[in-house]
Amino acid sequence: MTTQQAETDDSDGAHEERPAAIETIRSRRSGHNFDAEAELDDETLEELIRDAALAPSSYNLQPWEFVSVQDDNALDEIVELAYGQEHIAEAGTAILVVGHSEPETADEVFQQWADAGRMDEAAAEETKATAVGMYDDDRMGRDYGIRNPSLAAQNLLLSAHARGLTATPMIGFDHDGLAEFLDLPEDKIPVMLVAVGPSGGEEPERLPRRDVDEILHRESY
Ligand SMILES: Cc1cc2nc3c(=O)[nH]c(=O)nc-3n(C[C@H](O)[C@H](O)[C@H](O)COP(=O)(O)O)c2cc1C
Repeated sequence: MTTQQAETDDSDGAHEERPAAIETIRSRRSGHNFDAEAELDDETLEELIRDAALAPSSYNLQPWEFVSVQDDNALDEIVELAYGQEHIAEAGTAILVVGHSEPETADEVFQQWADAGRMDEAAAEETKATAVGMYDDDRMGRDYGIRNPSLAAQNLLLSAHARGLTATPMIGFDHDGLAEFLDLPEDKIPVMLVAVGPSGGEEPERLPRRDVDEILHRESY
């Protein structure tokens, strides 16, 4: 068995060898059981964000930022803004995944496309105009600002799980209230709050997932 692979027991008891990444996807949970005494160290926090930022994004615009909160008083405030979800404070770290509703990275990113020789300067300018133009439509801009950071959030969750941490994605919070509490500028979207920290033990069984037969449509809906 290589480090890329993990041996696992399926729920039906079948013994199978799967790539470690698949095992991480299949065993990830939204945990609510944190070790309130243990803390996430700074190096791990930065690794989580590094992994989150490896998510794909439209034109590689990376329209995301992250606000991490570890101060106990601030976490208590966030619990209040999240309608009393105490596990946020128990986790010890809350990370707000923030989305851009404006194409603020476009100049830098399209210059990188050109510098890397992936587009010539003219094509980069033209493609940038198309990409930026999409944000003229408010709905489209907001969709971009949620779709892309949502993938970063999922990377964060998987990275946390692979590192033996517990993490839970959350949208059960007062969006305007949290945006104000964390000083988010007007054009930034509070996409997802992630509570993350060392595990406090077992989680309950996962609820069932819908069958592939029910959710996969072939060729058309
Ligand atoms: C968009 C979104 C919002 C969620 N909001 C919350 C939340 O506010 N609080 C919470 O405890 N869990 C929240 N969850 C976690 C879900 O309850 C959880 O993903 C679901 O029950 C499936 O469980 P699993 O992730 O362990 O497989 C949220 C998940 C998603 C994707």
